[in-house]
Amino acid sequence: MHFWNSFQTDGMIIMKKTTIFQPTDKPFFWTMLRTEIIQHMLNKTPLWNIYKRNWLFKRLVAEIDGKPFLICSPVHFQQGNNTHIGKNFYCGYNFCCLDHGGVYIGDNVMIAPNVTITTAAHPKISSQRIVRPFPNTFEPYGRGEIEVVKPITIGNNVWIACGAIVCQGVTIGDNSIIGAGSVVTKDIPPNVLAMGTPCKVVRGITEDDRIPDDGFKGI
Ligand SMILES: CC(C)(COP(=O)(O)OP(=O)(O)OC[C@H]1O[C@@H](n2cnc3c(N)ncnc32)[C@H](O)[C@@H]1OP(=O)(O)O)[C@@H](O)C(=O)NCCC(=O)NCCS
Repeated sequence: MHFWNSFQTDGMIIMKKTTIFQPTDKPFFWTMLRTEIIQHMLNKTPLWNIYKRNWLFKRLVAEIDGKPFLICSPVHFQQGNNTHIGKNFYCGYNFCCLDHGGVYIGDNVMIAPNVTITTAAHPKISSQRIVRPFPNTFEPYGRGEIEVVKPITIGNNVWIACGAIVCQGVTIGDNSIIGAGSVVTKDIPPNVLAMGTPCKVVRGITEDDRIPDDGFKGI
């Protein structure tokens, strides 16, 4: 087995529907430790060492089709190995991906700086949220907690602008744009511009949005 995959736990962490679980349990701890090691190395590798960065990123996530277009540091993944990415992926500085519930990203997706994708939430009743204290000082965490996770799907050619937050269970349709600062709580259809909190469809994307072709001369 390859060294980088040696912390992987047997598929039990791959969740495709609403799941309730305790992320502080040991298998998750080892997975998250592996993630921390890889992303720490990635985040301190300079951009000009692009081959090493791409090599590390490929090991950080569950799968990526080919090499990414560009990954800007820092990136923060909860697991990494529960994120599936298509071709030509771009993410800007400070991309935060809480992927315990599974994140599925299509081809040519662009994620601007400071975007958060969160598949994870916690129970609303506090006594269910905080489960048990860990009195043993050798335990890696102070207490147990419960997470309720739902997968997130982002279609092909989607652009998510700066500072948007995509919440658990959401699907964003192909070619759509999520405006800066939006909080996406419900599914967004394909081919639309959507923005705001909560994020709503503002309009369809039409030929009127096309930049005149002569603007691309020489590119
Ligand atoms: C996606 C984006 C470019 C669209 O903005 P736009 O071209 O101004 O969109 P429109 O012209 O269709 O504007 C429609 C309306 O929504 C408003 N609007 C634009 N972006 C908005 C946003 N993020 N949140 C709320 N309202 C917004 C506009 O002011 C306009 O209002 P009006 O009709 O009262 O004048 C913009 O929302 C955005 O996110 N910009 C940041 C881009 C970014 O993150 N860049 C990083 C590089 S990866």
